[in-house]
Amino acid sequence: MAAMCRAAARQLVDRAVGSRAAHTSAGSKKIVGVFYQAGEYADKNPNFVGCVEGALGIRDWLESKGHHYIVTDDKEGLNSELEKHIEDMHVLITTPFHPAYVTAERIKKAKNLELLLTAGIGSDHIDLPAAAAAGLTVAEVTGSNTVSVAEDELMRILILLRNFLPGYQQVVKGEWNVAGIAHRAYDLEGKTVGTVGAGRIGRLLLQRLKPFNCNLLYHDRLQINPELEKEIGAKFEEDLDAMLPKCDVIVINTPLTEKTRGMFNKEKIAKMKKGVIIVNNARGAIMDTQAVADACSSGHIAGYGGDVWFPQPAPKDHPWRYMPNHAMTPHISGTTIDAQLRYAAGVKDMLDRYFKGEDFPAENYIVKEGELASQYK
Ligand SMILES: NC(=O)c1ccc[n+]([C@@H]2O[C@H](COP(=O)([O-])OP(=O)(O)OC[C@H]3O[C@@H](n4cnc5c(N)ncnc54)[C@H](O)[C@@H]3O)[C@@H](O)[C@H]2O)c1
Repeated sequence: MAAMCRAAARQLVDRAVGSRAAHTSAGSKKIVGVFYQAGEYADKNPNFVGCVEGALGIRDWLESKGHHYIVTDDKEGLNSELEKHIEDMHVLITTPFHPAYVTAERIKKAKNLELLLTAGIGSDHIDLPAAAAAGLTVAEVTGSNTVSVAEDELMRILILLRNFLPGYQQVVKGEWNVAGIAHRAYDLEGKTVGTVGAGRIGRLLLQRLKPFNCNLLYHDRLQINPELEKEIGAKFEEDLDAMLPKCDVIVINTPLTEKTRGMFNKEKIAKMKKGVIIVNNARGAIMDTQAVADACSSGHIAGYGGDVWFPQPAPKDHPWRYMPNHAMTPHISGTTIDAQLRYAAGVKDMLDRYFKGEDFPAENYIVKEGELASQYK
């Protein structure tokens, strides 16, 4: 069914689930974008489109079509700029790098809302069952930052294994202590690396790792087709608990769903090898925050790196800021300039199809006609 028919789909769902009445609207739409603010960096690169100031580079195009486009980074609380527009917006575009949390309460309030677009990958900032029940469409720009995240994961694996960051800090502080680094620095070659989740990012990471001559494992709901599996050279581990103790490095590459939320708790971490390195660019809430911090402090986890936290922005007192041997950054891996250009183009393409009443690429849908994508169920 065409994207233009969301209102009709919503009417169907409304009827089926007995929720509020649908509001159809042709013509001019109110579109709200929530992105991170760039401030002093806004003018440093003409391709910096992922920020409030860049507005995905679609302002002129939207306004030339008579639509109303509001962009803000102010997303939290009842007095926020976002909250002011919730009641009458038709489309909300937000990005995982600065997520507008779309709760069931907000969905209830958003009487005109038809479409929720994620500029990037990962729509866990949205209450997906509530969106489905309200007949909304949720879609993301699937594949837009696969390479950006896989490259970043490879970088963090190397940074942690080679104990790079303390060496860098020594240099900045005017120190020189080779032993202080070398006593816990290792090669990647010969290590066992397991990815939990081998979808687009997980698979690309395995492919990028192949020339490093590691022992590659993966756990997923689904096994990769035998040909690709052979080409990548990774072994399928159906039982996650059997894979964990084998790995020197574990990389998390699943979405945040009701099944993966808090998946890596104290018990799961205890199954891992002592001295394991973990890289998680998937979502912070897949981990039990305190269990990770405790295991880093005890040394069970020798290094934890990633760019995802819960909530975002991470509060100043978030325990991961203060735990030893971490390689954490703000949420950046999927928002390189290259990725921004790709997800901006993907958002524009979906808006264009929405205005014309056409379907989106099938793989972009997270919620369609009241149904959640299979891995979110
Ligand atoms: N840090 C960033 O900038 C950034 C950017 C893009 C994506 N991400 C995160 O990475 C995630 C993965 O992205 P992708 O493009 O590879 O998605 P994808 O849908 O291609 O792959 C996800 C894989 O996880 C598997 N999976 C889902 N639930 C599972 C479960 N309970 N147990 C085992 N396997 C499970 C799926 O079968 C699939 O193979 C996204 O959902 C998002 O949260 C982060």
